[in-house]
Amino acid sequence: MINKKLTIGLVFGGESSEHNVSINSARTIYNALTHSYNNETFIVNPIYIDKYGFWGDCEYSKSILLKKNRSSSTLGSNKDSINRLTNLAKESDKVDIWFPALHGPNGEDGVIQGLFKLTGKPFVGSGILGSSLGMDKIAMKSIFKSFNLPQVPYVYLNKENGLNNLFMESIFNKIDKDINYPCFVKPANLGSSIGITKAYSKKELVNAIKVAENYDERIIIEKNIEGRELECGVLGKSVMRSSVVGEVKFQGDWYTYASKYNESLSSTIIPADLNKNISKKIQTLAIDACKAINAFGLARVDFFYHENSQQIYINEVNTLPGFTKTSMYPMLWEASGLKPEKLVASLIEIATE
Ligand SMILES: Nc1ncnc2c1ncn2[C@@H]1O[C@H](COP(=O)(O)OP(=O)(O)O)[C@@H](O)[C@H]1O
Ligand SMILES: [Mg+2]
Repeated sequence: MINKKLTIGLVFGGESSEHNVSINSARTIYNALTHSYNNETFIVNPIYIDKYGFWGDCEYSKSILLKKNRSSSTLGSNKDSINRLTNLAKESDKVDIWFPALHGPNGEDGVIQGLFKLTGKPFVGSGILGSSLGMDKIAMKSIFKSFNLPQVPYVYLNKENGLNNLFMESIFNKIDKDINYPCFVKPANLGSSIGITKAYSKKELVNAIKVAENYDERIIIEKNIEGRELECGVLGKSVMRSSVVGEVKFQGDWYTYASKYNESLSSTIIPADLNKNISKKIQTLAIDACKAINAFGLARVDFFYHENSQQIYINEVNTLPGFTKTSMYPMLWEASGLKPEKLVASLIEIATE
């Protein structure tokens, strides 16, 4: 059991396109960590990273978190006077445990996990390997394949392959044979549906590859699954638990950036209306998927479920899922009996395992 007050370095913001979501996630985590339930256990030291990658000190960071400072990207405007990481060195001494509330590249892909590791302090969530495998859809799916986990058929290519006609011909042939149209074209390392296109023809596919190439050198193309979108929370390290299963519903054909961040265009159903057998399978697969890529601590595993065939496909593991008031991960755990204040306390305890 913990008996001294631990200082939690709550890191948020960051250079990613999910900067603002991260601030909202950090607010929910901050409120949960400073809840009366955790009064005797934690001191929170917020650390804000601005859109240029500059680390703020605790006071400045708190002002962003508590909405006292609205200009959330001013640190780096004076780029030459300070080092990006100046405050990391200052704040790191005070911190006992890091709690990243970051999403997307640099926060969720192993980069900051490596930095945390170098400070010698434990941190919430997956390590470098699980984080980077969870971020790269091609690497993640290759591992799932080697574990025989159920997933959607896919092919992948590198930007440079586009110049090789023979290679591209073989990709188009594979698509005709195993994937067909419409198909989903995605940059391998991103989130929030950014850079993703649903392509209905070869012509659209060629354009979609160009769109994805604006975001990443690595591109993945997947068979379209007409199915329900289900999500399951995972918590733990030596012992992993999964939450009840939730469902996302959205307006339109697929879960786009617009529908993800516009509350009137999407909604969540917790728990999802599923037969027990399917829920159980999803809960087991969620843990299997995390174990396969060495993700632990927390993760949200997303699935497609094709009702007629009862086929379940793992879509992806998110190693730092959204943590806002209306995010699926904390809501799944609340519905499983773990309120946010208890959830964050568990995450910290798991980090010290
Ligand atoms: N193979 C697929 N079949 C059907 N829909 C898909 C497929 N891949 C992605 N989608 C749709 O696109 C959304 C975003 O894709 P996803 O791979 O989860 O990317 P991100 O990491 O950006 O969330 C999914 O939630 C789903 O609505
Ligand atoms: Mg997704």
